[in-house]
Amino acid sequence: MRKPFVAGNWKMNKTAAEAATLVGAMLPELDKIDAVEIVLCPPATAVPAVSGLVKGSKVGVGTQNLHWEESGAFTGELSPAMVAEFCGYVIIGHSERRAYFAETDETVNKKVKAALAHGLTPIMCVGETLEENEAGRTNEVVVGQVKADMAGLSAEEAAKVVVAYEPIWAIGTGKAASGDLANKVIFETIRVPLKEMFGSAAAEAVRVLYGGSVKGSNAAEFFGQAEIDGALVGGASLKAEDFLAIVKAAA
Ligand code: G3P
Repeated sequence: MRKPFVAGNWKMNKTAAEAATLVGAMLPELDKIDAVEIVLCPPATAVPAVSGLVKGSKVGVGTQNLHWEESGAFTGELSPAMVAEFCGYVIIGHSERRAYFAETDETVNKKVKAALAHGLTPIMCVGETLEENEAGRTNEVVVGQVKADMAGLSAEEAAKVVVAYEPIWAIGTGKAASGDLANKVIFETIRVPLKEMFGSAAAEAVRVLYGGSVKGSNAAEFFGQAEIDGALVGGASLKAEDFLAIVKAAA
């Protein structure tokens, strides 16, 4: 049995002060929910504040990126040790980073390995563009990402990765995939390749999330699917009652 997992990706939203207000509004309720692994991923400047506020609760914290090098002349980057000082999780390979910040499968793979080496749980994002989807290339694209992004991991390491399937056409558009469709894509492009790469036990242990316009009103449709273990939530993670409704639907 895989434990349900819901993470909020706040993207470039919330100052540290605003983050503290949001956490204050939802932490008492979130902390009552034992059945779901809950993670908040604020922007880096708010991470210390959020991590201090959730200390002693069941809620985890993650950053939205990291660099694979240990230290050095990499202006603007966060090393794995810096992230691990405050967090247990890190989002890697989000489509916005792939599209706007030159993230490639090669860098995603290096980051996943660096995160695991520092005891961080990677929330590794994959997903196809609208163009690829319309050209019937979804399976080819997502399988390619999974294979390249997780290349060289041991089965034990692979089992620790949380994979988020985020079709890019569903992100921030209000047009979520249907639960059935997301389940089918996840089975064919994530679960099956993981089995081939790492064996059944590891493949069955990996939590796979759906991301893309998840809200309180459609979350149950995703969480009712056999292959979907939770959600990576963008916009709806910025309001306490919306995020709570999604976490409760996963419990
Ligand atoms: O990482 C979460 C994400 O990209 C989905 O965003 O706003 O469609 O929930 P949103």
